[in-house]
Amino acid sequence: METMTGMHRSCGCGVVTKEDCGKELTLAGWVNTRRDHGGLIFIDLRDRSGIVQIVMSPQYGEEAFHKAEDVRSEYVLVVKGVVRERSADTINPKMATGEVEVVVSEMRVLNKAKTPPFYVEDGIDVDEMVRLKYRYIDLRRPEMQRNLIMRHKIIHEIREFLDGHDFLEIETPILTKSTPEGARDYLVPSRVNPGKFYALPQSPQLFKQLLMVSGMERYFQIARCFRDEDLRADRQPEFTQLDMELSFENQDFILDLMEHMMQRVFKNVLNVDIPIPFKRITWDDAMNLYGSDKPDLRFDMHFYDISDLLRDTEFKVFRNVLDNGGVVKAINVKNDSDIPRKELDGLVDYVGRYGAKGMAWIGFNKDDTLKCQITKFLGEEKVREIGKFCEAEKGDLILIIADKPKIVAQALGELRLEMARRMNLIDENEFCFRWVTDFPMFEYSEEDKRWVAEHHPFTAPRDEDIEYLETNPGKVYAKAYDMVLNGVEAGGGSLRIYQEELQEKVFKAIGISKDEAQEKFGFLLDAFQYGAPPHAGIALGLDRLVMLMLHLGSIRDVIAFPKTQSAIDQLTQAPSEVVEKQLKELHIKTDIKKESDLLV
Ligand code: AMO
Repeated sequence: METMTGMHRSCGCGVVTKEDCGKELTLAGWVNTRRDHGGLIFIDLRDRSGIVQIVMSPQYGEEAFHKAEDVRSEYVLVVKGVVRERSADTINPKMATGEVEVVVSEMRVLNKAKTPPFYVEDGIDVDEMVRLKYRYIDLRRPEMQRNLIMRHKIIHEIREFLDGHDFLEIETPILTKSTPEGARDYLVPSRVNPGKFYALPQSPQLFKQLLMVSGMERYFQIARCFRDEDLRADRQPEFTQLDMELSFENQDFILDLMEHMMQRVFKNVLNVDIPIPFKRITWDDAMNLYGSDKPDLRFDMHFYDISDLLRDTEFKVFRNVLDNGGVVKAINVKNDSDIPRKELDGLVDYVGRYGAKGMAWIGFNKDDTLKCQITKFLGEEKVREIGKFCEAEKGDLILIIADKPKIVAQALGELRLEMARRMNLIDENEFCFRWVTDFPMFEYSEEDKRWVAEHHPFTAPRDEDIEYLETNPGKVYAKAYDMVLNGVEAGGGSLRIYQEELQEKVFKAIGISKDEAQEKFGFLLDAFQYGAPPHAGIALGLDRLVMLMLHLGSIRDVIAFPKTQSAIDQLTQAPSEVVEKQLKELHIKTDIKKESDLLV
């Protein structure tokens, strides 16, 4: 349209207000909806800032009106028109711009659009695979735009905070050597070095430690990490960490710094005040009381260890468990004694999914009677004693699991969460932070029949436990900490080993020989011989943090182009087959039949 002078937008659609009445504006965006009322056409025009109603009629612009007759959803338009107040009966209080509309004198259709596969609006009920395939349309939806805008703001606040605390943002390689985070690596073959592979970093762990040796003192990076592991709602094969490392500071300094950072981010992005310091709980306590190293403490409902009360029991089920090194633990579900029997049976199945062979219950009925299937084995006195120990009052329900410690922890931990959901104990608006500290240094791998590092092998053991490194690795705890938010591991870090002898001892404990250590991490060990400062760090799962801040259930909703549970990019269909020539150049032969061959 020649008469339309320039295409420069005056402002966003969503920010037009009553103050603009009488002004002529140029707006551009997508057709959200179009309503044809005969001689009058209404279009809701949408851009990133929001939606505004525009009106076309032959009276205001003949050409624009006729063009509008052919316009469909998601067409891209630029329009010029005058803002006017809507009549009282047409005001839309649900719209930010609901008091005004723009009377269009000129319009240009910048582009047509096919009918989109789903509505561009919030709360759609569409298969996620379809949303991912058409992600560019999905991302037009206001809630997805908000998610990415919030993500940007969170990262921006983090950068500002860290810059203000003397941190340097430094990039580290993506094509690199395997790092010891413990998941499977993604490998990249090297064409110029036949038969050799880069690994994509599971985290920048080793490089950030090298940067400390380099004297950078305070490093951070918004770092992409790659891990070939089984995916879940809060796991992606590539995800983003806020990765940090700093020299010459102790654990308290780091935790305090992170708390202040979180406080600022929550205040400036959500206007939520986060109380600091965050409470701390040791790994041992977390496991004993909640059965999890990332307990959701928006509610309490902690475990009671009733093993000692049952030491002399004749009841076979408990007797067997206790004789074989197991434990008997209980939770007290307040005010749930009138739970129907059917629901209790359902809970037995529920804990079965986590390996528990059974579940016992004691309902302390309001009329002082008991609802309990094991009174006949334990006797009423014992049952009441258990109730007293578990602080049961009239109306409470005690749920009990007896099994190996690991199974009790998991099954009762999951049951605790399930009961909290059923009893509506979780305040969805709360942000409950915890530091979990003093993790075990090693975990025994039944599969490999050896001890493996729980965090990574550069984590420092607690000073008082060093003596057990050789004799009893299971007794060694680490100077490691996790940041837990609402029952999700939001981040983790540790103080590092920086002395050669200690590092050697740790490698020895996990069965890594000197040669193997040299081959795997030689560059780091060499670097440590040239003056390594004491250093420590942490990495936050940024996708998880954004997800939690926005009360979402999956990190896919805060990543522009995420992958599916089977690590497929629905949009590009990666990973895909490559042509023979590419494989040849890389000296790679596969024994997998091509999809095209399999069809024959
Ligand atoms: P860690 O392995 O605990 O520590 O990772 C840090 C945080 O990253 C997040 N995270 C993930 N998020 C999405 N998808 C995944 N697959 C995934 N895996 C981990 C979690 C986790 O807490 N180098 C060390 C940190 C350090 O010691 O400084 C590390 O990577 O929120």
